[in-house]
Parts: sequence; C-alpha cells; structure tokens
Amino acid sequence: MPRRSRWILVLLPAALALLLLAAWAGLVRMGWEWPLSRRLALLHGPVVVSGFLGTVIGLERAVAFRRPWAYGAPAGAAVGTLLLVTNAAPGPGLLVLVGASIVLCLVYFLAYRRQPASFTAVMGLGGACWLAANVLYAAGRPVHVAALWWMGFLVLTIAGERLELSRMVPRSRGSETVFLALAAVYIAALVLALFAYGPAGRLAGAALLGFTLWLWRYDVARLTIRREGLTRFIAAGLLSGYVWMTVAGVLLIAFGGVPAGLIYDAQLHAVFIGFVFSMIFAHAPIILPALSGLAVPYHGRFYVHLALLHVSLAVRIAGDLLALPDVRRWGGLLNAAAILLFLFNTAWAVRRGRRTA
Ligand code: HEM
Repeated sequence: MPRRSRWILVLLPAALALLLLAAWAGLVRMGWEWPLSRRLALLHGPVVVSGFLGTVIGLERAVAFRRPWAYGAPAGAAVGTLLLVTNAAPGPGLLVLVGASIVLCLVYFLAYRRQPASFTAVMGLGGACWLAANVLYAAGRPVHVAALWWMGFLVLTIAGERLELSRMVPRSRGSETVFLALAAVYIAALVLALFAYGPAGRLAGAALLGFTLWLWRYDVARLTIRREGLTRFIAAGLLSGYVWMTVAGVLLIAFGGVPAGLIYDAQLHAVFIGFVFSMIFAHAPIILPALSGLAVPYHGRFYVHLALLHVSLAVRIAGDLLALPDVRRWGGLLNAAAILLFLFNTAWAVRRGRRTA
C-alpha cells in the first residue's frame, strides 16, 4: 500500500470522528441537553477547525507536496486535538497543534519558493492565520479572538484555491492586485481584533464582502453553472457559498465584532457552515478521489444534502437574528443532519462506484 494511502486510512477517519464530536459539542452548546462535559462543549471551535479541517487541509497539502515530513501537519492536527479532548490539561494538545500549524506554514513557504504564485501566498497567509489562532488560544486569549483567526485560516485557504482556478477566466492584470489588497485588509482586521474587536469585525466584514464581489466576478463557477452533472453541482455549491459569505460580511459590518451570543453565532456560522461547508460539499467528489483513490461518482441526490445545509442554516440564522433560541436550536440540529447526510451520501456513492467498477 502506498505511504500516502496509509496516512489517509488513519487520518481521515480520525478527522471525521472529530467532526462528529464537534457537531455534538456545538449542539450541546445550543441547549440540547445531551451528555457531554462542559470542558468538551467549550472545545467545539478548536475541535472542528483544527481537528477536522486542519487535518483535511493538511492532508490535501501533504499529498500535493509529496514529502513525508509534510504529513506532520495533518498528523499533528489530529493527534493534538485528540490530546486536547482526552486530557484535562490542555497544554500538550495545544503545543502539538502549534507544531502542526508550523509544519503547514513551512509546506506553504517551500511550495511558494518552488512556484512563486499569488494563490500560494494567499493560502500561505491562511496557514499563518491558523498558527496565529493556535498561539493566541494556547496563550489564553479569549476564544472569540482566536475564532476570527481560525476564520482567516479557512477563508484565505479557500479563497487562494479559487484564485488559482480563476486563472481560466479572462481577467485584467489589476484584478489579482485587488485580490491581494483584500487579503491585506483582511489580515489587518485580524490584527486589529487583538486590540479593538468591535471595529475589527466591521473591517473583516468589508474584506469578506470584497472577496465575494471578486469571486462573483471572476470565479469560473459563473460559467460552469450552465453545464451539467458534477460540474454544475460544484458550481452550485460554490455560488451558494458566496451568498453566505455575503451574509457574513453584511452581519459583521452591521453589528461589528460581537464576542458571544446569537449575533456571534450568526456571524461565525454564516462563514463556517454557509461558506466553508458549501465548499466542502462541492469539492468532496473531486478531493476524496485525489486523496484516497476512491471514486465518488456524482449523483443527483448530492443536491439534497446541499439544499438541507442551506435551508437549515437559514433557519438557524433567522433564529439568531430574531432572538428565538428554540428556532436556532432546531436550525443547528438540521445543520448537523445535513453534515451527516453528506457523509452518508458520499459513502453511498463510493460503494456504488465500487460496484460498477
Ligand atoms: C452542527 C453544526 C454546528 C453547531 C450546532 C455549532 C454550534 C456552535 C455554538 C452554539 C457556538 C457558540 C456560539 C455562542 O456563543 O452562542 C459555536 C461557536 C463556534 N463554532 Fe460552531 N457549530 C457548528 C458548526 C461549526 C463548524 C462547521 C465550524 C467550523 C468550520 C464551527 C466553528 C465554531 C467556532 C470557531 C466557534 C467559536 C468558538 C467558541 O466560541 O467557543 N462551528 N458553534
């Protein structure tokens, strides 16, 4: 078995288990009275961002980079989070997570030296945001500050990937400069969040809106939505993700950075679920085969989990904005159902692909 597959065989199930734990913890935080210690419920954010996404993004980068040590990033993300959830003392887990993000930054740095392209730089800035978030969290800074930096990790990683693919659409020379300027404004907002969280939220919101406008204008999804099958499904996932990024930008500008509560929930999850999970749903049928060699043949039922994600998030955010915690609670539960359905539909498609192979 190739080394790559062995890593994936261990790390992908670990990442999925951490995703399920994080969803459970998030639901307990929302008021579902299910068994879970308060300590674990409070770890929802780091478990989903570092444990699940840190592992998956790290794996994707390690496979592309083709150096064994690069697997230190996903392995560190998974092991660090497992240590964090199983140990009462957070120190060792946090230390491993900081180490994992340093490895990811190194991978981006060397990848940039190999191919000095703007998209690699933007993704590298995403990796640096993950490192900063982990350091801030380990240093005991409030979790809402680390949350904005975690957001930076995911937004810049995904935006960088879209910048890379947008090269297929004809665009002016200045458009890339605009994109880089937006990334700079976004990073400035994250730095400002260390001193003035409220205004920093507004600036981050403005940068997110700028990114959305840019992506609406230049992303190939605008063209590929007219195609059929998987290509169209991917475009639908991308474009709907951009709608949620617009919502997040508007909420951040309207309310500024808010450190807890319903508006905080809406601002964060418009990005984390609306934008990030739309991207995951859209890309899974191509990323999973690239990582694992397993085919994920497209099927029309993929639209069901995508639609459930959006409807449930709309319910949750309506509950947040109208201060109706019960509505938000049900929206959150349906968010988790959409994620479970996605996992189920993906596993079903893999099985179907094997049978027809
Ligand atoms: C089933 C889906 C989810 C549920 C039920 C959920 C629930 C929650 C709740 C209730 C909070 C606290 C908000 C407040 O203070 O009122 C929260 C915070 C947070 N969530 Fe989620 N969430 C979910 C998915 C996600 C995803 C997919 C991500 C990341 C990709 C994420 C990242 C975060 C972060 C970083 C925080 C801030 C950390 C904190 O305040 O402890 N969540 N979530």
